[in-house]
Amino acid sequence: MTETNADANPLMTDRSEEFFPQACTIVIFGGAGDLSKRKLIPALYNLALDGLLPTQFAVIGFAIDAMSDEAFREFARDGIERFSRRQLDEEEWREFSEHLFYRQGDFGDAAAYAALKARAEEIEPHFGIGGSRIFYLAIPPSFIETCVFGLREAGLVAPADQDLPFTRLIVEKPIGRDLESARGVNRALQACFAEHQLYRIDHYLGKETVQNILAMRFGNAIFEPLWNSKHIDHVQITVAEAEGVGTRAGYFETAGALRDMVQNHILQLLSLVAMEPPWSMRADVIRDRRLDLLQCLRPMRRHEVDQHVVRAQYASGFFLGKNAPGYRREEGVASDSTTETFVALRLFIDNWRWAGVPIYIRTGKAMPKRVSEVAVQFKAVPHMLFNTDTDHPLEPNVLALRIQPDEGLALRIGTKLPGPKVKIYPVKMDFRYGSTFGDQSPEAYERLLLDVMAGDATLFMRDDAVEASWQWIQPILDAWASSGERWLPEYPAGSWGPIEADRLIHADGYDWRRL
Ligand code: BG6
Repeated sequence: MTETNADANPLMTDRSEEFFPQACTIVIFGGAGDLSKRKLIPALYNLALDGLLPTQFAVIGFAIDAMSDEAFREFARDGIERFSRRQLDEEEWREFSEHLFYRQGDFGDAAAYAALKARAEEIEPHFGIGGSRIFYLAIPPSFIETCVFGLREAGLVAPADQDLPFTRLIVEKPIGRDLESARGVNRALQACFAEHQLYRIDHYLGKETVQNILAMRFGNAIFEPLWNSKHIDHVQITVAEAEGVGTRAGYFETAGALRDMVQNHILQLLSLVAMEPPWSMRADVIRDRRLDLLQCLRPMRRHEVDQHVVRAQYASGFFLGKNAPGYRREEGVASDSTTETFVALRLFIDNWRWAGVPIYIRTGKAMPKRVSEVAVQFKAVPHMLFNTDTDHPLEPNVLALRIQPDEGLALRIGTKLPGPKVKIYPVKMDFRYGSTFGDQSPEAYERLLLDVMAGDATLFMRDDAVEASWQWIQPILDAWASSGERWLPEYPAGSWGPIEADRLIHADGYDWRRL
């Protein structure tokens, strides 16, 4: 590992010095779990490879499982070998692994926190860490309260007004499962930490392409003047996953696609696409603008829900040449489950910029491919000149922001077909991250962990934004809960969703984009 160097890495070039990752210990609650192995440790390792971690740095895995430091290092190595975006380099690994430690403990046991504290105090002097700590709660939500009070009671939370050593807490989604429980989680967090010590992760905000939405909108002169209801006809946001529920039925059965994807990732995406221009890049300025947008979402009344929202579940189907089971046949799923694996909806943003522009959202599991994009369709040119044939109108301009895979953006424009006749043909101007910048983009967790170490909360969710998005979601949840339906529309696994979703958009004269 090397000292951090702002000039050497593009991740850092736009940041002022105060945003450098600071010396600290990262304690991973649930350190022996899946998230730690698949995402967090590989992310830290990649930051180390890039020379972005400070030398004064340690990781302590903290969980109920009995494990020695050695066993934790083996666990971490396995995670890197299997899930890191770059291969394990023996020399780097040797150096990195010396910073990894483990402490066994029961989250409900006060003695475990005292022992954790003692362990951190023993490790930190070897690395010149002055007691600053980041606690990462990679645990089921039911443990959040226990853990934050455990930390507070053990004296592991530094005073909020103290610069150094600092304490920061990273909390994974879901923050609650409805508005009331989200408020409860926020209350528990704020009973122990000040809001500026809290980092609620939405990993979509850490994706390069999601951050590029702001760069694209406000780093170019040509888009912003068109970014309003005068020029934009409608917007479509698709977040499709090819995988079914996999091994996560236990969690997903209690969540469903609306809570799992729309309440957080998709509304956050939308807030970046649609927010007003921030007047500074400061975290709270950007978070204020995102919040404003969420507060402008037109509330749905219960009786309107069916008109604007479609939920569905995948049935057995055919995917990649194989039979794929229906959701109710997946392991851990109730045979009469009514959990939705797909949601399509139409919403409106009630402000001057977006008045009357429909926004269509669809997300689902077991769809034909993994693809996420935001497509902004502009209004048609007048029916004159090249656009006189009303049976074959010109295809409108579409700006498609591809979030994943194949990250980039494409603008569909009409050009003249070569030849003597005047015929307009739609072509795509295409920018691909991969071909322009070569190297793979950093994983979302790399960027987000680095930001917490630097104390930059821009890409994290503030309490008010979490509650605003639940507030908007709540009537949909209530309408579904009160309907008492035992059946919901189905779509074959490996398809683009149910016919009801097509009807939703056809009713307005549009089609879902073919991706
Ligand atoms: C998670 C959801 O937050 O995001 C998962 O809980 C989903 O159900 C995942 O699969 C999608 O993330 P990504 O980065 O693969 O698009």
